[in-house]
Amino acid sequence: MRLGKVATWVIALIVIVVVVIAAVVAIMLARPPAPTAPATTTTSPTPTVRKISFYTWWAGLERFAIDYLIANFTKDTGIQVEKTAVPGGAGVNAKFAIIALIMAGKPPEAFQVHCGPEIISYFMATPHKAEDFADLTSVGKEIGILDTPVGQVCLLSGKLYALPVNLHRANLILMNKHILDQYGITPPRTLDELLAACDKLKAAGVPCMVQAGADLFTVLHLWEQIFLAVAGPQKFVQFMYGMLSPDDPSIKQATEIFLKLADTFPPDWMALDWTSAVARVVDGKGAFHVDGDWAVGLIFNVYPKVKMCPIDAITPDCDIIVAPFPGTQGIYNMVIDAVGVPKGPNVDLGIQFAKYFASRQGQKIFNPYKGSIAAYPDLGKDIYFIDVQKWEVDEYARSKAQVFSLTHGALFSDVWDMLLKKAVELAQYKQAALSSWYDTVAKALQLERQLWEQSGMFIGSCDKPFAGVLPPWAKC
Ligand code: GAL
Repeated sequence: MRLGKVATWVIALIVIVVVVIAAVVAIMLARPPAPTAPATTTTSPTPTVRKISFYTWWAGLERFAIDYLIANFTKDTGIQVEKTAVPGGAGVNAKFAIIALIMAGKPPEAFQVHCGPEIISYFMATPHKAEDFADLTSVGKEIGILDTPVGQVCLLSGKLYALPVNLHRANLILMNKHILDQYGITPPRTLDELLAACDKLKAAGVPCMVQAGADLFTVLHLWEQIFLAVAGPQKFVQFMYGMLSPDDPSIKQATEIFLKLADTFPPDWMALDWTSAVARVVDGKGAFHVDGDWAVGLIFNVYPKVKMCPIDAITPDCDIIVAPFPGTQGIYNMVIDAVGVPKGPNVDLGIQFAKYFASRQGQKIFNPYKGSIAAYPDLGKDIYFIDVQKWEVDEYARSKAQVFSLTHGALFSDVWDMLLKKAVELAQYKQAALSSWYDTVAKALQLERQLWEQSGMFIGSCDKPFAGVLPPWAKC
């Protein structure tokens, strides 16, 4: 009896459940689908990823120092950096890629640039010129970089638009000691000694000067060092301001020596980039390479077994001798890498990156791997792993003159581009390209001056103009 009652209840319950389910299904089918909730209605806030993009040409075999710096910055600040590396030494491709982004109104949060007029070329690409870039003068004061000589020469008409992260030297020559020993050549200290060494090596079928055509810049770089040796620092600064006469004899003199050296390049020089030119000298397939001390950084990072030594302290186990370019002793041809920050929605993050990079902490991380020296003299020599960089600290301290490298910052980008290409043509076609080279130098000087005048700017400040030169267009 009791069992029969329970069974009746169970059956009744099942019937009720089935009816309810059927009703619900019927109602659901009859209804339009419920709208999906918009993604923004979440109640718990999601943490925003702080990320910036940094445009640079430190790619490939040149990536080590920048990657190390970025990794430390992200670790210390939590800000991610997307490194967009446009390959091509000296920025042969990157500079115009950045200018194009700026012109399109889509600048990166931060970008690599040289101190010198080069940065004004970026101003020229924006509607409000320098106003479209963060004025970093107060940040420079805060981190102490403005108290250093490097910080001072990065001023444009008294303002800092890019924070310097190092000091490279452009007037260097790397020599394969084994080749010199084999042919009984003493490391050259004058242009005549260099020319004599090259005559000897050429006669023996050994490439003497290994410069690279594929990424253009080491060719103009070589002409520039010869010009510095024959013209001296004052005329060199006049060239930077477009104030030198194109008829100055130093231009012809430098060009004639350049042609002699270009005649000793390896036959395939047009296929080499600067890193492969360095490799040739390291491998003993050529005697000399003229470049900045990023080549020292490259050897340190990529060929750790190769022993480098400064010309003033040549040791028996030395493989590569590093020396001032013959005839430029006592001059520091400066290449100063810096970070510029266009104004934009993330300008604060861009400034934070530039500030970290240019600080003592950032420079201590970056420079030992880069081949350059830190801009803060008080960082001392102990932060470097190799003797050549320690020697460079002394070389800079005792230098009698400092100039800005024409190939790396001292020219407006359009002027630079025209000289870069013409110098390669000159090395290729020699006498046949000579008159067109002189025409280009004259046009370059004229345009350089015109662009300076148009900008109204100058290097340094009214109190301390760079190299004591206050150009006529400076308003002080
Ligand atoms: C220079 C730059 C150096 C190094 C070199 C070769 O213009 O200042 O840091 O990158 O080009 O790419």
